[in-house]
Amino acid sequence: MSNIANEINRRRTFAIISHPDAGKTTLTEKLLLYGGAINLAGSVKGKATARHAVSDWMEIEKERGISVTSSVLQFEYDGYCINILDTPGHQDFSEDTYRTLMAADSAVMVIDASKGVEAQTRKLFKVCGMRGIPIFTFINKMDRDANETLDLLDEIEKELGIETCPMNWPIGSGKNFKGVYDRQERCVITYSDTQKGTKEGETHVIPIDDEQAILEAIGENARAKLFDEIELLDTASAEFDLETVQSGQLTPVFFGSALTNFGVEIFLKHFLQMTTTPIARKSEQGLVDPVETPFSAFVFKIQANMNKAHRDRIAFMRICSGRFDANIDVKHVQGGRTLRLLQPQQLMASERKILDEAYAGDIIGVFDPGIFSIGDTICMPGEDIRYEGIPTFAPEHFARVRQVDTMKRKQFVKGINQIAQEGAIQIFQEISSGMEEIIVGVVGVLQFEVLKYRLENEYNVEIRMEPLPYEHIRWIENAEKIDVAKLSGTSDMKKIQDLKGNPLLLFINAWSVGMTLERNPDLQLSEFGRD
Ligand code: G4P
Repeated sequence: MSNIANEINRRRTFAIISHPDAGKTTLTEKLLLYGGAINLAGSVKGKATARHAVSDWMEIEKERGISVTSSVLQFEYDGYCINILDTPGHQDFSEDTYRTLMAADSAVMVIDASKGVEAQTRKLFKVCGMRGIPIFTFINKMDRDANETLDLLDEIEKELGIETCPMNWPIGSGKNFKGVYDRQERCVITYSDTQKGTKEGETHVIPIDDEQAILEAIGENARAKLFDEIELLDTASAEFDLETVQSGQLTPVFFGSALTNFGVEIFLKHFLQMTTTPIARKSEQGLVDPVETPFSAFVFKIQANMNKAHRDRIAFMRICSGRFDANIDVKHVQGGRTLRLLQPQQLMASERKILDEAYAGDIIGVFDPGIFSIGDTICMPGEDIRYEGIPTFAPEHFARVRQVDTMKRKQFVKGINQIAQEGAIQIFQEISSGMEEIIVGVVGVLQFEVLKYRLENEYNVEIRMEPLPYEHIRWIENAEKIDVAKLSGTSDMKKIQDLKGNPLLLFINAWSVGMTLERNPDLQLSEFGRD
């Protein structure tokens, strides 16, 4: 195998998704520990910042530039080169969280064993489902009292609509957590409350047929329950099938405790065997093979540096094929230009490292003088590739925004458009009211604060925001066939348009969406917009 093929095939690029507090940061820390990327757990960024209030967060963003918001953690383990796409650590949700999933080849879903499926898991899961990427489930916090295992699995299946296949099975929880039963290896791995920071705990591996040793390790009650459950599992649970996992229809489930570092390495080992090498990506010209095609990448995120003195931006690219060489010119397809990518860097936790080369599966950040847009393709000058665009995700919070000083209309429009171009906010207009009224839609409310802060600091424009009660936005899929003016919707429905003039509908509640569809049988609505 050529060196390039070898480098690409050993890459595994995934995102970790969870509802806040389920243990994403803790699990990431422990994974890094196995890769030797950090010496002590607790040094992953985001954790401390997660608890800061909004205003503090702004300060941190300013001081540290982009490091707080997003990074890619790369480490080596067992011959693999692993890229973990880390999403912002704060509680608030933004488009970036969604977009990051567009750059991952698989996702690890962390669930708190005492809470089950939570709101943000549901939202993120939808995006994974849309892409059909493999999803692995890590049910965390087994050292605390957990919900019944079967109920947890049932909830995942019902709420998220994906089949589950437990790879291991917990023996008790909380104070009675004794370990897990590894179904493939047919052995019990006993739990010990290992030290938080250390790599390996005092676990014992006991073959399931060694009844005496099992009895001594977990006691009669737990043994009896386990044997019953094993029997049930072997007959009732979905059979493991790698193809179904890789197409995102079956999620392998693991149990453990990230905090006490139990079950993390077991998970990592199985996960690496099951997840995919960098996947072929859809383009207008067909699927692009990551190994056979020379360098190509697409922009999935643009981040403005909050430093007022340098209004620079960083474009994050996912390399989809081939090898990136920092010393050669590439083609920016949408811009129709050949150029050199400037200051290509890897964004590790709080530091940036300038790169000479990178491979399909890797994420690089490059200096953006204002030419890139989200979804753009970069490839070799002789190639013609256009990757499929990234969908626009439905904002859930809306506000009418005006500048306080009417003389500053020009700066206001410029600023708000630039920020929208980065994808931090979406802007709309009321269909009837001409240019004056701008409606801003965001995925997470923190973005409103960011917008206000940035307009004031970077564009010197003070704004006033009037929150609107809408929570649901729908793109009209078949706008060319529908007379939007004649749509008969519910009384809370509002007609708006995006900057390209595409009509959209806003609703206060989900019921109204259904009602409007019922009243207009020809209308097709979508939660995702496409360019
Ligand atoms: P997040 O990134 O998903 O938001 O979650 P994070 O890892 O920050 O974990 C949230 C809280 O849950 C932290 O507690 C963390 O220590 C705890 N936690 C994570 N994994 C486990 C686990 O396996 N078992 C138990 N018992 N707790 C776990 P905290 O009190 O908010 O922070 P700290 O004081 O521990 O730092």
